[in-house]
Amino acid sequence: MTERIVLAYSGGLDTSVAIGWIGEATGAEVIAVAVDVGQGGESLETIRQRALGCGAVEAYVADASDEFADEYCMPTLKANALYQGHYPLVSAISRPVIVKHLVKAAREFGATTVAHGCTGKGNDQVRFEVGIQTLGPDLKCIAPVRDLALTRDKAIAFAEEKGLPIETTKKNPYSIDQNVWGRAVETGYLEDIWNAPTKDIYDYTATPEFPPAPDEVTISFEAGVPVAIDGVRVTSLQAIKELNRRAGAQGVGRIDVVEDRLVGIKSREIYEAPGAMALITAHKHLEDITIEREQARFKATVGQRWAELVYDGQWFSPLKRSLDAFIEDTQKYVSGDIRMVLHGGQAIVNGRRSETSLYDFDLATYDTGDTFDQSMARGFIELWGMSAKVASGRDIRVAGK
Ligand code: ARG
Repeated sequence: MTERIVLAYSGGLDTSVAIGWIGEATGAEVIAVAVDVGQGGESLETIRQRALGCGAVEAYVADASDEFADEYCMPTLKANALYQGHYPLVSAISRPVIVKHLVKAAREFGATTVAHGCTGKGNDQVRFEVGIQTLGPDLKCIAPVRDLALTRDKAIAFAEEKGLPIETTKKNPYSIDQNVWGRAVETGYLEDIWNAPTKDIYDYTATPEFPPAPDEVTISFEAGVPVAIDGVRVTSLQAIKELNRRAGAQGVGRIDVVEDRLVGIKSREIYEAPGAMALITAHKHLEDITIEREQARFKATVGQRWAELVYDGQWFSPLKRSLDAFIEDTQKYVSGDIRMVLHGGQAIVNGRRSETSLYDFDLATYDTGDTFDQSMARGFIELWGMSAKVASGRDIRVAGK
């Protein structure tokens, strides 16, 4: 029986050529699998037909947009996950859900190998292959760009020679990856890290310098997840989409960073994640009133570690799973409403309310009627400073000798 290979298919030039390229190099039949993670653009049926036109024996489209929002974006939100303090893990969280569908397709179609279109320099190859090793330990991996010398020039020549139904003349200088959680743009002119991004790079966000009138939005959360916007019930996917639209119109969520890839390279990245950044801001502010101080402080550390694990391709790892359990436990009381103003590139919270809030007006107030006994503070401070005071006494004593 002819060997079968499942290819992660985007519909672009590289993966379209990869279908025939893999076939010629290995003699295997290629099954193209496209996964909808809310990336927009062409219809998935168009993409499916193109895969068949490029020689795939089967082409399969998985609608994973709700699954991606519920099971990948929401955990990222609960963790307030920002890799290196900036990046909401847009591409990093899409790889595991794509892997899940690739492995599923490999089982269904009796494939022995999974292929993806990543280069050998990035994080995504690691995320794909570590994921596949975990979910399908018997499956092999192949990356035509990395392993079968499929360069851009060769891809164009191959497509033209074979008359593949794909545009080869449109030259996009950037490498772009996008889904409902955001958009990542890299390479080309951006590789000079002093170059400011040009306007044409952006797609999810409007220029924040000339914003429309301020847009006030109320986001309601239940147990850490957005459930309504301005009082209208929404699914997770709808919440992200609606905020992509409204925060995007205000230029919220543009990120320009040099980040540390897992493979040891520093790379310039432009991200736009209007919905994700608005949601993370709102969610964090709701946590500020609903999570107890020590739990909140520890959670910030956990969230950071969670982001690193996910960035590094460890979505299916035991440590990531354990951290999920901790984070989930902290979300029990993260319910209530956050009101924020979206304007000129910023999302600023200006009101919060929650039935499960820890904010106690009677303790906090400086007005009469305050229930806090200020006389207790003196003794507390005396004891709180004791340990450092004893040490400083020792320092003076030793220095004097
Ligand atoms: N650097 C980001 C990451 O590793 C984004 C990668 C985006 N991929 C791309 N082909 N542009 O998560």
